[in-house]
Amino acid sequence: MPAEQRPVGVIGVGYVGLVTAICLAHLGHRVVCLDVDEVKIDGLRQGRIPIYEPGLDELMAGARERLVFTISYDELCDRCGVLFVAVDTPPSPSGDADLSRVERVVREVGRRGGDHLLVMKSTVPVGTGDRVMAELEALGVTGIGYASNPEFLREGAAVDDVLRPDRLVIGAYDERAGDAVEALWSGLETEVVRTTVPTAEMIKYASNAFLATKISFINEIANVCEHVGADVRTVAVGMGLDHRIGPSFLQAGIGYGGSCFPKDVQALKQLAGNSGYHFQLLNAVIEVNHLQKRRVVAKLQERVGRLRAKRIALLGLTFKPNTDDLREAASIVLASRLRAEGAKVTAYDPMVPPGSRPDLFPGVTLVTAALDAVEGADAVILVTEWPEFGLLDWSVVRDRMRGRHVIDGRNYLDAAAVTAAGFSYDGIGTVTDTLGDETSLAAGERS
Ligand code: UGA
Repeated sequence: MPAEQRPVGVIGVGYVGLVTAICLAHLGHRVVCLDVDEVKIDGLRQGRIPIYEPGLDELMAGARERLVFTISYDELCDRCGVLFVAVDTPPSPSGDADLSRVERVVREVGRRGGDHLLVMKSTVPVGTGDRVMAELEALGVTGIGYASNPEFLREGAAVDDVLRPDRLVIGAYDERAGDAVEALWSGLETEVVRTTVPTAEMIKYASNAFLATKISFINEIANVCEHVGADVRTVAVGMGLDHRIGPSFLQAGIGYGGSCFPKDVQALKQLAGNSGYHFQLLNAVIEVNHLQKRRVVAKLQERVGRLRAKRIALLGLTFKPNTDDLREAASIVLASRLRAEGAKVTAYDPMVPPGSRPDLFPGVTLVTAALDAVEGADAVILVTEWPEFGLLDWSVVRDRMRGRHVIDGRNYLDAAAVTAAGFSYDGIGTVTDTLGDETSLAAGERS
């Protein structure tokens, strides 16, 4: 049977792999998903999704009969032609992406031979496709093709990003391989960029690095705004109306986190360095992002003085709302800095129950409601813009607290309501005096 008509394989059911698999099944394909984690596969067989992603349960339920979960490479390779590779590529100690899991996949598929097309979904350094082809050749394997089809999904909006993408990027070594990948996604209406494998690999890194640069840029503008009395929210609105700039990813805050931007920016910097090029701009992007988390502590000290024995409440811990992901979350550094200054830290996040992750938040008391977190607190820091924090009644919060300080690390709260309740309010690069107008304008432009 031609590769295109057999079930599609997805190797690695982490974030990208699972969403890709379920979306492919939703589009009508039969999909065989493989992971080396038996517990995860067992759970999925029973319909348990190991990640929190809005809309994914419903989609999986609707496509259940087209999805098979396995830990067997034999089963996968026997049944499938096209094999999406979605294993993780964590940073290695040198800052390069660790490709050991990708290499394992190539070995497992390579030694079984047969007619397969490996389609790389994982974010891999430019040159990985060439390396894989060379490895297959060294193993004496013929008949296995390779294409790059990078993923641009965001956590929390993953289903929508896969089913309604801005573009589909396909890099291939030959026309037939590229056509096979494009055919799998033919149910989507979007622009398709067909190119070489290294160019497709670079599009992924360059996109993430550019978005991270946009965030660090607006964060620096915010920091300057604080010195000159301008308001970054309106600056972002004014900038974003220029179609060459666009309004997205101009929300100043306490920096970007997550499993992608920090890792990918570092990996691109490293990749450039390995080929003899010093990528200066990315160094600044990374440094600004590190400092942005620490600036919040300085801001807090200006308001409450020494932090020793002060009670600080953190609202939100995940790296952004609508996810349970804590990887590289700003909250981890922030909580640790506060503890190092001797503060007593209490935190609430709807996705992080008490008792979880003592490795990430040692000495931090996790509670089950925002109002419990602020009990007796001297100051509150909003870390993640979960919608429920926008609905807080600040006069009730005030009555629970000891102090009267709010630091809004995401410029998310209604500053007028917070100040009306008797709090001092500090955003990131915001002007407190003109809050009414500035807030409503900026809120209307949130993307
Ligand atoms: C990011 C990219 O947006 C996706 O296109 C890409 O596919 C993904 O990485 C990946 O490579 O897998 P994600 O990490 O899920 O997606 O999250 P984003 O929504 O991009 O947010 C990243 C971080 O930037 C968050 O901490 C967020 O709070 C922060 N951010 C975002 C800002 O501080 N300001 C903004 O204006 C936007």
